[in-house]
Amino acid sequence: MFEEAQYFAPVAKREDGSVTVELASSHPGFADAVYRERRNAIAALALNYQPGDPVPHAEYTEEEHQVWALVSRELAAKHQRYAIREFLDATERLGLPKDHIPQLQEVSDRLYPLTGFRYIPAAGLVPLREFYGVLADGYFHSTQYIRHHSVPFYTPEPDIIHEVIGHANTLASDRFAELYRVAGGAARRVESEDALQFVSKVFWFTLEFGVMREASELKAYGAGILSSYGEIEEFRGMDIRPLDLKAMGTTEYDITKYQDVLFEAMSFDQLEDVVGSFWATCDDDSIARLLADG
Ligand SMILES: [Fe+2]
Repeated sequence: MFEEAQYFAPVAKREDGSVTVELASSHPGFADAVYRERRNAIAALALNYQPGDPVPHAEYTEEEHQVWALVSRELAAKHQRYAIREFLDATERLGLPKDHIPQLQEVSDRLYPLTGFRYIPAAGLVPLREFYGVLADGYFHSTQYIRHHSVPFYTPEPDIIHEVIGHANTLASDRFAELYRVAGGAARRVESEDALQFVSKVFWFTLEFGVMREASELKAYGAGILSSYGEIEEFRGMDIRPLDLKAMGTTEYDITKYQDVLFEAMSFDQLEDVVGSFWATCDDDSIARLLADG
């Protein structure tokens, strides 16, 4: 996600081919030389990746597998309370391992037969148009590293827990997969930067941070909420607004805090009718009209 990009650590590739991930001094792994070596190696895998290749195998430590096991167990319990039914069913369908970090290739192998989506590795920031555009073809750019084991419930960057527990489980749903595809199509269709920003903000407030009414309870479906141990407990107390394209496409947000403005779909049908139809048909002109409209 590009706005998350402020939080992607920069990745530098030197002339000798070495790759360095420049973690901020506030990053929990900053002072851990062994973790940083692993981050460099994982980033190099993504930088050297060629489309069409199998996703290269990333090495994780036992401590990192334990982070996955702990966080996926805790989140699964919270999902039962807070996630929409469509997500719970898709999670069941995907059947991700709970005791170890899956390789991205394994995620693809599980996902592709279900909804045609495949994971491709990203070292860090992927340009907005590229990140979204390939969703139209069923590709999802994903980071492969995991957060530092010293703080299992915190990450300053989108890591594999966000990408896989949040997004892959969602992408195992036919209905969600179609929404991701049409979002990708929209990003390809629009030409101006303003229109692209609008499309991506609608994505942010729906597929990243969307909430939905389900049998009178407010539930979450956005991957950002569903992969966050803390935020998932807080979203019901936020400023909940009705699903509205113009509002979503123009509301500012701060990625460094829990999202305090959220947009509520009254049903999955409404999400598809309002947001899915928008992505399926929008262009620069229709977005300019939305922006100009009262
Ligand atoms: Fe995301």
